[in-house]
Amino acid sequence: MSYSREPLNPLNPLLNTSFRITVLISGRGSNLLSLIQHAKNYRIVEVISDNSDAPGLRHAHQAGIDVIGFSRRSYPSLIAHKQAIYDKLEQTSHDLIVLAGFMQILEKEFVERHAGRIVNIHPSLLPAFRGLDSHKRALETFRRSGGKKACHGCTVHFVNTEVDTGPIIAQTVCPIESSDCEETLAARVLKHEHRIYPWVVNKIASRNICYQNGTVVLDKSTALEAERLGFNVIGFN
Ligand code: GRF
Repeated sequence: MSYSREPLNPLNPLLNTSFRITVLISGRGSNLLSLIQHAKNYRIVEVISDNSDAPGLRHAHQAGIDVIGFSRRSYPSLIAHKQAIYDKLEQTSHDLIVLAGFMQILEKEFVERHAGRIVNIHPSLLPAFRGLDSHKRALETFRRSGGKKACHGCTVHFVNTEVDTGPIIAQTVCPIESSDCEETLAARVLKHEHRIYPWVVNKIASRNICYQNGTVVLDKSTALEAERLGFNVIGFN
């Protein structure tokens, strides 16, 4: 993580509103809903799902956003199913691909071609608990440590070719409580996800947060704003 000396964005409103994002989901879509509700500097041009029955697609329908659901049943193989999604993503003109509970691992070649233009949210303080079941593992660690390892949270990061290892943009820390079960912990973290994800995407759209040569660059006012909001943007890379 580093700061640029000058603001990265002249705050040109035309530039901001023309920033086009595509959101990919697989299920519930609560982060999608929050991205819809807090869109300031970006426009969601379409929502794509690898599951045409994903409940979250209704949020896009209600907001009048184009929705494309790729049903696995319509394709002869997993590869063909994935390829159809890639083809669609390549055809659409967008500035950023936003993964919001998208349960597929993107192909290396695709990620390399779109370096710095794909973001993800993960429900843990990366690099801890990459992959699935992060809340369960955070709780196990909490219990094993006798309640000492009580920090959990979420991370927004640029996507690279390894799962959940891309450059970290921002994190929010939230405590684990001794009465927590997986569900209560997940619900607490999710509230933070809903705040931090639209904030980051708005800042990328306004060019206050950038990806440069594999690292995250942000201007000082954005770092200060993050601090005020309780988001951690430094010290994790
Ligand atoms: C979120 O916890 C997100 O961090 C993870 O998958 C979950 C998706 O939830 N990648 P939702 O579909 O946005 O409600």
